[in-house]
Amino acid sequence: MIINSATSIYFSPTGTTKKIIDQIIKGMGLEKVNLVDLTLPKIRESVLNEINEDIVLIGVPVYEDKVPEILLEFLNNLKGNNKPVILVCVYGNITDGITLNELYEITENNGFKVIAAGSFIGEHSFSTKKLPVAEGRPNYEDLSRAEIFGAEIVEKLKRINEISDIHIKIPEGKIELMAKVVSKNSARMFTKQPMVDKSICNDCGVCVYFCPMAAINQDTLDINEDKCIRCFACVKRCPKKAREIIYKKKLLVTNVLRFKSRIKRDVKTYL
Ligand SMILES: Cc1cc2nc3c(=O)[nH]c(=O)nc-3n(C[C@H](O)[C@H](O)[C@H](O)COP(=O)(O)O)c2cc1C
Ligand code: SF4
Ligand code: SF4
Repeated sequence: MIINSATSIYFSPTGTTKKIIDQIIKGMGLEKVNLVDLTLPKIRESVLNEINEDIVLIGVPVYEDKVPEILLEFLNNLKGNNKPVILVCVYGNITDGITLNELYEITENNGFKVIAAGSFIGEHSFSTKKLPVAEGRPNYEDLSRAEIFGAEIVEKLKRINEISDIHIKIPEGKIELMAKVVSKNSARMFTKQPMVDKSICNDCGVCVYFCPMAAINQDTLDINEDKCIRCFACVKRCPKKAREIIYKKKLLVTNVLRFKSRIKRDVKTYL
């Protein structure tokens, strides 16, 4: 089976998932790639009726051990029509939880055929200079692994006639106790709203553009608390560093992040 084109569907507020996806595509050496960026609220509200490309790639960050909830409606509306799909999750070196299992279930139920999956590591959205968590990841090695993964997928597909010949097994993940006991969107319980420091801000509007929830008022730059999911795109993408991540319950959050991220996690791929 020869693959020439792909639809790449991804959500990536702070850009690490996008880096991994791009590298997988590079490794696949495809001629045509149709990008569907779910980070933009308008795209998430749309429905992708038809996929014309040969293969689909879906990439999401792990939020609270799972697929970010705001993506579920879009993903559940996708029609697979027996297309091959590659599933990718990117997490902040704590746990990838059940994200790949969830993606597998959604896509197979919608008529896709999962032909490969991978779990990669990206700098944690809550990482700061004082408390670095998976800082700088994906690093050179992670990106090389993503590129090799892409090349391996193409090689594997060349060797088969029908995608029904492919059977991959993703191990059952688990939801950590912490994610079970705290409420949904617990990030708001543990971090403050990233307010803007007007003495540094130059009104460039970058944070407004990159906020995946359209939560930042473009005139005042204030954040709508009901919409903000604490993805920290506005902090990480601000060229003037006019917003910062501030933990609530600082000692608890610092200890949990430090303890949970102490082991350097490795890329896992399923082919
Ligand atoms: C609300 C929220 C919840 C998160 N939950 C987890 C988690 O359960 N496990 C983990 O390792 N990282 C978690 N992270 C970190 C992200 O998965 C990680 O930083 C990822 O690389 C972000 O992807 P992006 O750069 O494409 O936005 C969470 C981040 C956010 C914003
Ligand atoms: S305002 Fe909230 S949702 Fe929007 S980019 Fe900042 S942290 Fe993310
Ligand atoms: S990205 Fe930073 S400098 Fe630009 S408007 Fe937002 S807070 Fe201000």
